[in-house]
Amino acid sequence: MELSALTAATADIEHIRRTAVCLYDAQAVEAAIAGMAKQITRELADSDPLLLCVMNGGLILTGRLAPLLDFPLQIDYLHATRYRDKVRGGALNWLSYPKERLDGRTVIVVDDILDEGNTLKSVCDYCLEQGAVRTYSVVLVEKIHERRIEGARAECIGLRIEDKFVFGYGLDYKGYLRNAPGIFAVSDVELE
Ligand code: IMP
Ligand code: MG
Repeated sequence: MELSALTAATADIEHIRRTAVCLYDAQAVEAAIAGMAKQITRELADSDPLLLCVMNGGLILTGRLAPLLDFPLQIDYLHATRYRDKVRGGALNWLSYPKERLDGRTVIVVDDILDEGNTLKSVCDYCLEQGAVRTYSVVLVEKIHERRIEGARAECIGLRIEDKFVFGYGLDYKGYLRNAPGIFAVSDVELE
């Protein structure tokens, strides 16, 4: 796209998109998702689970994963956001709760990334408070660093990356680029 056709805001986004480094292309991400589906099928096919998409980041992973899960399940979503379109962390902000009852259910929580773990831990704690018998967290990407909070974990992880800000496959940069076809790292300089 010609930069001249863009507003100042989207020109920044376009610059980020153009200068990012591809860590995993779409083929690699799809292969990882296929592997995740096999693991989830092996571990949860008999549990009548509720697949709970954490909007908005979990949207694309949920959409790619669900058709690969060939067993009875229901799908619901919640909307909880930590970054609120910024690139640094903040408190978890609940915008929508699941509509299905969670009591007695095995809940598969699907999110884009395990970073410090606040989001996943809060969501899983909420599900257990609502009576879920088990939570099973699924993330496309895990960031490797020492800042993970106590008790935050994912049972199923697609890809591991070093401690960089990434976008694509549901992960956003300032609310944009969730649709990027792969996992891309923003250069550190851009986050200064
Ligand atoms: P946590 O609560 O620290 O684990 O952060 C998880 C949430 O922060 C994710 O669901 C994402 O929405 C967001 N997040 C963390 N790291 C990144 C990143 O590198 N790119 C985009 N979003 C991120
Ligand atoms: Mg998110």
